Amino acid sequence: MDRTNLHHVWKAILIGVALVVATACYFVPVLLVAIGLVLLVLLCARVVYPGRDRYIPNLYARDIRVYDDAYRSFIGHTLSDLRACRIRGHTLLSEASLLPGLCPQDSDELLLDLGAWIGWSTRLISDASGRPVYGFDTFSGLVEDWQVDDQAVVQRGTFSLSEPFAQRLIRDTGVTLHDGVPDTLGRKVRFVKGSTYETLAPFLAAHPAAPIRLFHMDLDTYESCLHALETCKDRFIEGSVLVFDEYLVTSGEMLAFYEFQRKYELEWRYRAWGLEIMEMNVEMVTARRKRGVYYLLWIVGYGLIGDGSYVWKFLRRQFWRFWLGAQISDILFLLAVGGQRKSVSIAITGLGTLRPNAEHDQADG
Ligand SMILES: C[S@@+](CC[C@H](N)C(=O)[O-])C[C@H]1O[C@@H](n2cnc3c(N)ncnc32)[C@H](O)[C@@H]1O
Repeated sequence: MDRTNLHHVWKAILIGVALVVATACYFVPVLLVAIGLVLLVLLCARVVYPGRDRYIPNLYARDIRVYDDAYRSFIGHTLSDLRACRIRGHTLLSEASLLPGLCPQDSDELLLDLGAWIGWSTRLISDASGRPVYGFDTFSGLVEDWQVDDQAVVQRGTFSLSEPFAQRLIRDTGVTLHDGVPDTLGRKVRFVKGSTYETLAPFLAAHPAAPIRLFHMDLDTYESCLHALETCKDRFIEGSVLVFDEYLVTSGEMLAFYEFQRKYELEWRYRAWGLEIMEMNVEMVTARRKRGVYYLLWIVGYGLIGDGSYVWKFLRRQFWRFWLGAQISDILFLLAVGGQRKSVSIAITGLGTLRPNAEHDQADG
C-alpha cells in the first residue's frame, strides 16, 4: 500500500552520483583533497554560524524569530519531539493502516480527508484502513491564497481539477469524473463537493454525535485548517488521530493547530513525522514506463524549483541555513528523500475544555 518507489529511485541516483565522484577521486586524487577542504570549511563555518535552532526543517525556510516567545517555544518542542518519531513512509498511510478494524460499536466513527484533489488520498486511506472515508474538496482549487512561510504565495484556485497537471494525472491514474467529482473507483469512499466553509458543518449535522477517528488535513491554508478544526472540535475524542500534511509550514497548519490546542487546553502528543501524501498520486500512475518518467520529473522538479533547490543554490539564504544551521541528522534525513517530508500526525489524549462536561465543571468549581 505505502509505496516509496520514488524515493528508491532517488537513492539509486544518489548512490550513482557517489560512485561517479568516488571513481573521479580515484583517478584524479586532487579532487579528494578539494572535497575534503570544502567539508572542512563547512564544518568550521557551522561552529561559528549563529542561526542554529532559528529555522525549522521545512528545509530551513523561515526564521522563527518573527513569532512570539510562546509559539517559538512550541516550535522548539515540536522539533525535538518530531525527531524522535520520524518514519520512512507516508504519515497518513501509516496512521490509516494502524487503525483498528471496524467493529459494530464504533461503526459510526468518521474518517475525514479534507482536501481530496483527484481523490487518491481518500481512496488510499480507505484501502489502508478498510473503512469508509469521506473526502472533501471544492474540486476547483484553494479558496484563499496560501502564504507559505516567507517563501511564496500559492494563488487561490490552484489545484483546480481543470489544471493541465491534474488533468494529466487524472488520465494517467485511471480516474474518471462525474459532474466534476472524482469517481470512487470501487472504494468505500464518498466525496463531498464544495468549500469546507459550507459543507463541513451540514455534513457533521447529518452524522449526529459521530466521533472523528481520523482527521486528515490537506487544505493547505491556515484559515481553512483553523475553520475545519473549530467546526470538528466537538467530534474529537481521546484517541482521535490528526494528520497534517503540511505541518512544517509555520504560518499554516502548525500555527492553526497551535492556536486550537491552546484555546481548548487539549492534551495530545506527536506520533509520526514522514512523507506527504501528494506524491502517492505518482505511485498510482498505471503504466510502468510512464510512472518512471513521473518519478524522474518529480525528483528534478523538487531539486530544481522545489525545496530541494536549497541544497545546491548557494545564492539563496536557505542554502546557508540548511548547510550551516541544520542538525546533521536533519540534513541526512532530508537529503535522503527526493520529495517533501512535512507530514505529521498527532493523537489527542485529553479533551481539555472540549470535554462534554467541562463547562459544568468550571461553573461548579
Ligand atoms: C494539496 S491539494 C490535496 C491533495 C490530496 N490530498 C492528495 O494527496 O492528492 C489541496 C486541496 O484542498 C482543496 N481545498 C483547499 N481549501 C479548501 C476548502 N476550504 N474547501 C474545500 N476544498 C479546499 C483544494 O481544492 C485542493 O484540491
